[in-house]
Formats: sequence, structure tokens, C-alpha cells
Amino acid sequence: MRGRLVAGNWKSNGNLASNQRLLEQVRGEASRLRGVECAVCVPYPYLSQTQQMLTGTAAVWGGQDVSQFGAGAFTGAVTAAMLVEFGCRYAIVGHSERRNVFGESDAVVAAKFAAAMTAGLTPILCVGETLQERETGVTEQVVGRQLDAVISGAGIAALGKAVVAYEPVWAIGTGKTATPEQAQAVHGFIRNRIAVSDVAVAAALRILYGGSVKAANAAQLFGKPDIDGGLIGGASLVAEEFTAICRAAERR
Ligand code: PGA
Repeated sequence: MRGRLVAGNWKSNGNLASNQRLLEQVRGEASRLRGVECAVCVPYPYLSQTQQMLTGTAAVWGGQDVSQFGAGAFTGAVTAAMLVEFGCRYAIVGHSERRNVFGESDAVVAAKFAAAMTAGLTPILCVGETLQERETGVTEQVVGRQLDAVISGAGIAALGKAVVAYEPVWAIGTGKTATPEQAQAVHGFIRNRIAVSDVAVAAALRILYGGSVKAANAAQLFGKPDIDGGLIGGASLVAEEFTAICRAAERR
């Protein structure tokens, strides 16, 4: 049976004092969870604090992005090796804010995925359609294209060591969650598409849902057969919300 994962994506939020309070609660909750891995993806400057507070606990952590390059003259870029040095297990790649605000193409996302993988990080590959794409009926084409860009670069076996997060752009930070049925439909599509290349990889792949997940809607989403956890933005900044979402991911 696939393990569950709930990952917080703090985005550009937090400070040393508020992080300390949040991480104390997260590490306490993580040790009580059964069959759910609990991760936080924090801003780069807070990786050191996170490493100090979570090392030796059941909680794990990651970066929210990673450079597609290695060490060298790439001002502002943080390499996968640096994330590894600060104890990261995960790196989010291809978040819609990276794609849409920072202009990352499918090719850049594929290169970041490969760089993370090569360094031994587990990429959390985000895919998802905009509202306009959903309304024009091209959701599967868009998600398929985003997946194919990574598979054709890194290979299907690499996907077996990664996590995919389906995040409809229209549901991120808007309070408009996809219904469990809408999310399941796309999760099923993703798993089937991967099964065409490799049935075992598809069966083992953790596919997270992201987009306005809250304690109040988490259990219904996680009750769907192809939803293996969540990537949580706003609600991951509120300890009680985030820990309740983690508990909702436990199998009953
Ligand atoms: P949200 O963000 O939970 O605030 O909608 C999710 C994400 O962007 O990963």
C-alpha cells in the first residue's frame, strides 16, 4: 500500500519566532502519525533552523524550488547539493507560482527535476491547469504535457522515485478547492497515463492534491483512491490546521 505524505509549502512566509512555534507543533504531531509522512518545505534562509529543530524527529523537510544548475556562476540560485547539505529530503519543482510568476517552462522544470533527482532529493513535481484551461476542456492535455516533459527527460523509472502533486491553479490560495470527484478524476488520469509506460511505477507513485486544502475538507479528499496526501499552502502556516490535515491522511 502506498504511504501517505502531507507536505507544507510555506511559500514566502515565516520568521524565526513564528517558525519555532510551528516547527515545535509539527515535530510533536509527526511522531504520533501512523502511515503518514509529514514534511515542511520552507524558505531557504530557514533551512538551517528547520534542520536544527527537526533532526532526529519523525518530520522531514525540503526546499520549495531548486536550481537546474550545479555550483558556479548562477547568482541567486540554490543547488540541489546545498539542499542535501541542509538535510532536505524533498524539493518542490514546477509549482504553478514558479511557472506563472517566474516564467519557468516545462523544459526548465524538467531540468530542475533531473538536478534534484541526481543529488538524491525526492522531487515533488507540481502539475495543474489554469481556470481557462479547465473551462476550455484541456485539463488532461495540459497535465499530460507537463508530465511528459519530465518523463521524456528523466525517464519513467525516475518518476518512480518522485512524488507528483496535482494542483489546479484555480484552487491555489483561492479558497476554491477542487471537489474530491474533480481531484480524483485528474489523479486517476495521471496514474493511468504513467501506467501506460510502467504499471509498477504508476501503482507505487504518491500523487498529492494541492489547492485550498483545509482541516475541514482534507478527509474527503484523502478518501479518494488515487489521492495519497496533500501539498498544503496557507493552511500549513497554522499549526492546528496543518496537524489536523496530517491526521486526516491516516488510513482508517
Ligand atoms: P494553498 O496552496 O493550500 O494555499 O491553496 C497550495 C500550494 O500552492 O501548494
